[in-house]
Amino acid sequence: MIDYKKDFPVFQNENVVFLDSAASTQKPKCVLDTLYQMYASSYANVHRGSCALANRATERYEQARESIASFIHAPAKQVIFTKGATESINLVASGYAKRLKKGDEVLVSVAAHHANFVPWQQACLESGATFKTFQILPSGEADTADFEKQLTPHTKMVALTHISNVSGVENNIRDLTQKAHAVGAEVLVDGAQSVAHQAVDVSALDCDYFAFSGHKLYGPTGIGVLYGKEAALNALSPYQFGGDMIREVSIEKTTFADLPNKFEAGTPPFVQAVGLAVAVDYVNQIGMAQIEQREKELTRLLVSQLQEIENIEFIGNNPALKKGIVSFVIQGIHPSDIAFLLAQQHICVRVGHHCAMPIHKCFHQSVSVRVSLGVYNDAQDIELFITALHKAIRLLK
Ligand code: ALA
Repeated sequence: MIDYKKDFPVFQNENVVFLDSAASTQKPKCVLDTLYQMYASSYANVHRGSCALANRATERYEQARESIASFIHAPAKQVIFTKGATESINLVASGYAKRLKKGDEVLVSVAAHHANFVPWQQACLESGATFKTFQILPSGEADTADFEKQLTPHTKMVALTHISNVSGVENNIRDLTQKAHAVGAEVLVDGAQSVAHQAVDVSALDCDYFAFSGHKLYGPTGIGVLYGKEAALNALSPYQFGGDMIREVSIEKTTFADLPNKFEAGTPPFVQAVGLAVAVDYVNQIGMAQIEQREKELTRLLVSQLQEIENIEFIGNNPALKKGIVSFVIQGIHPSDIAFLLAQQHICVRVGHHCAMPIHKCFHQSVSVRVSLGVYNDAQDIELFITALHKAIRLLK
């Protein structure tokens, strides 16, 4: 296996086995260097200045939009920079809150991250629309029979999860989207856990909106993306008001800028956007297909070792479906105790509800231990984790 750890300074600085990339990934040196270079030699506010620094910053910002757009197969003007997937989803939900009315319905998966659950619940509360959920199967896959049952001609929005941040199961977005479109609903996909792990083509998925964060894609914090179909974005009200999102302002009225500026009020996170574009170049150089294959092999190794542990229960009971994310509980041992003893052995995992309480409830759990992979993980990380886990179990039994 190629060693990608050498590209990430954290692994030269710290003695850790990092298995928490679903929460946030480590950063390659090329991204860190870019952030420094941007602040050191290309920094002035974008879309406003006339000096060389401002022109350079604006150019790099718009180039970043082009390369991130091409990464997900979207036109650049349909790529809106936000501060993360959560803001991207809130942007759409806040537009929907103004548009929805009593009698309308929004359909959300019980497996959704809170970021793709709570904004819709609130939009329904504000507008009087009905908030509905569809179930998942014990495997973690969408229960398509329930999905079809819950869809009605009143469904205006269907909020889907591409890959669950708890079960690691991928949803068949194209199929669910087709079904949603058939009743006239729009579809938003939370791609926070997919873009760093496999090639994504938003036009092939045919979703109306696709949201993701930069910090889970080896980029900086404070940057995210909202892709939208042109007509969908044009029909959506602006999320925030202020500089750079206007066409003309007078005492009588304000008109708004065209896409993408309409949704980018104020000084945008342009340094972070450039950092994210460099992260995208980094994964593109490796190849998304190679990353997917590598993580598939490691997930298989991880799951096969975990399955040997007595009384283990997975959130999503078909381990073969997991894509780089595995959450589990071991009967009779509290997940926090396991995570504590792993941390003492320099193993980073996440413990808790992972911002997804409803999916835990489906599996009659409130919390779990989650192991999640990134491009830098290798078979030795899995071995070290499994050895440390066995030690923790011995101490706790
Ligand atoms: N959404 C991130 C996670 O699943 C923070 O951990």
